[in-house]
Amino acid sequence: MTDRPSSDWDVRSDEVQRNPLAAHDRLRESHGVARSEVLHTSVFRHADVLAVVQDHARFSSVVSAHVAVPNGMDPPEHTSYRRLIEPYFAPDRVAAMRPLYQRLAHELLAHTRQVHARQPFDFIAGCALPYAARTQCAFLGWPLALEGVLCDWIARHHAAVFAQDRARLAQLGLAFEALIGRMLDERDASASGPPRDATEALLRERVEGQPLARAAIASILRNWTVGEIGTIAASLGILADWLARHGELQQQLRAQPALQAEAIEEILRLHGPLAVNRRVARCPVQLGGHEFGAGERVTVHWGAANRDPRVFEAPEEFRFGRDHARSLLYGAGIHVCPGAPLARAQLGLWLQALLGATTHFRLAQPAQPPQYARYPAMGFERLPLVLDWA
Ligand code: HEM
Repeated sequence: MTDRPSSDWDVRSDEVQRNPLAAHDRLRESHGVARSEVLHTSVFRHADVLAVVQDHARFSSVVSAHVAVPNGMDPPEHTSYRRLIEPYFAPDRVAAMRPLYQRLAHELLAHTRQVHARQPFDFIAGCALPYAARTQCAFLGWPLALEGVLCDWIARHHAAVFAQDRARLAQLGLAFEALIGRMLDERDASASGPPRDATEALLRERVEGQPLARAAIASILRNWTVGEIGTIAASLGILADWLARHGELQQQLRAQPALQAEAIEEILRLHGPLAVNRRVARCPVQLGGHEFGAGERVTVHWGAANRDPRVFEAPEEFRFGRDHARSLLYGAGIHVCPGAPLARAQLGLWLQALLGATTHFRLAQPAQPPQYARYPAMGFERLPLVLDWA
């Protein structure tokens, strides 16, 4: 080990909260690999993040005693569960969700127009969270009315993670298990007749010939709901903020809808919606000038890696024509996001609807400046916008 201070930074410091992107950029350039109490050993550079996540033989995903299917698993266990969940994101399943997502986007925008007209409103509470929660509920066949419960749970969970309050996290875990228990009890686990929704389909799954354990189903559902609502909502906020600041791009995307999908990938490369994922070194590893010890906890920072000038020229500039195959927005390696096609549909249909329903939108600042979200969330806590309706 090198003779370095035990902590190089603090994800909860004022500096990081003021501007997480700038703080992570600085750490990527000054340290590459940095240590902290909350996030242990953080890896910020693109090459190092890729090296960690592609090397599941030396960096394990089993980072906690809690069941996490399949994100907290290594092969061969991971392989069986991954095979089970991938069909849920197959092209036909995603295509089947599109009309519903489109309807949810249009209804939410119509409601927003009625309530706020041309007055400033918080886009995160008013649009991003409701749309993210409703589309995830729709995917699972859960009542859309659960939106409030899910968003409230996420807010409490983020606060408890920020405070590192383990007792509170345990309570929240139990509360969520109870909700999932209700969703499962309402469904039929027997194999007769087609499952009525994705949740019932999960109940009937088998892995290695055995019915899926209740804890495994609960873990999958937790990941697909509260795990992803936060990332989708953060993405919606990031897209809205960038376009609100860049009126010309906004108009270009209205005039040329075919560019919208690439613009989404590029804006989310510039400002990552998912902060980190974790690994643990299984054995001593030399990487990025750091000697990882066996058992050392590792955090990969997707957003910082995606702004690495070693990979993306002028990384802080929006550019069409970049090689997004190198973007780590949806991860890499065996845990690469299986939900990416669904996420792209959710985000793409929303943006199309938003651009179609408005002639222009802008930040409500300087009167009401945006406020960055704090760890563990990314994107914005508050994003006051003014929408000019079409
Ligand atoms: C913009 C939205 C999203 C982003 C940026 C994103 C990003 C990621 C990333 C970076 C990983 C890799 C994690 C790791 O290596 O530890 C991942 C894994 C995963 N994502 Fe997503 N995700 C998004 C949306 C979704 C959605 C909508 C779903 C499902 C409904 C989903 C389901 C999953 C699952 C199940 C895994 C774990 C896969 C495995 O361990 O094999 N994601 N996601």
